[in-house]
Amino acid sequence: MKIGIGNDHSAVEMKNEIMEYLTEKGYEVVNYGTDSSESCDYPIYGEKVANAVAAKEVDLGIAICGTGVGISLAANKVKGIRCVVCSEPYSAKMSRLHNNANMLAFGARVIGPELAKLIVDTWLETEFEGGRHQRRVDMIMDIEAK
Ligand code: RB5
Repeated sequence: MKIGIGNDHSAVEMKNEIMEYLTEKGYEVVNYGTDSSESCDYPIYGEKVANAVAAKEVDLGIAICGTGVGISLAANKVKGIRCVVCSEPYSAKMSRLHNNANMLAFGARVIGPELAKLIVDTWLETEFEGGRHQRRVDMIMDIEAK
């Protein structure tokens, strides 16, 4: 599976740790984030990962900023993106099962790397349940089409 990852200056270390972790697990990881700790604008990187997911250059995307909030807001402006901010594994799991989230965001200033790895594992290993949830996801995407 090919994963796109993007980050701003607040999350360079976290991005590197997650990239290394996922690569060791056999995922192909594409870096769309900054590698510099110089202050930058998170919408640039949220959009980059989201565009890669929407264009199917990668299967799923991960976006990291200080809180996960700004970068997820930016990603969600790209057509076809359902990006969720998660600080614990339960929401990460449900966001795949029920919401078919195609991007995960979290905050490098909110959670530590070990919790982030648990969240990422849970999210990547959970499949969309479909059924009645497909109708609801379709309803979300219909709002975007209006
Ligand atoms: C950068 O200081 C910070 O605002 C950003 O990383 C993020 O938390 C925004 O939502």
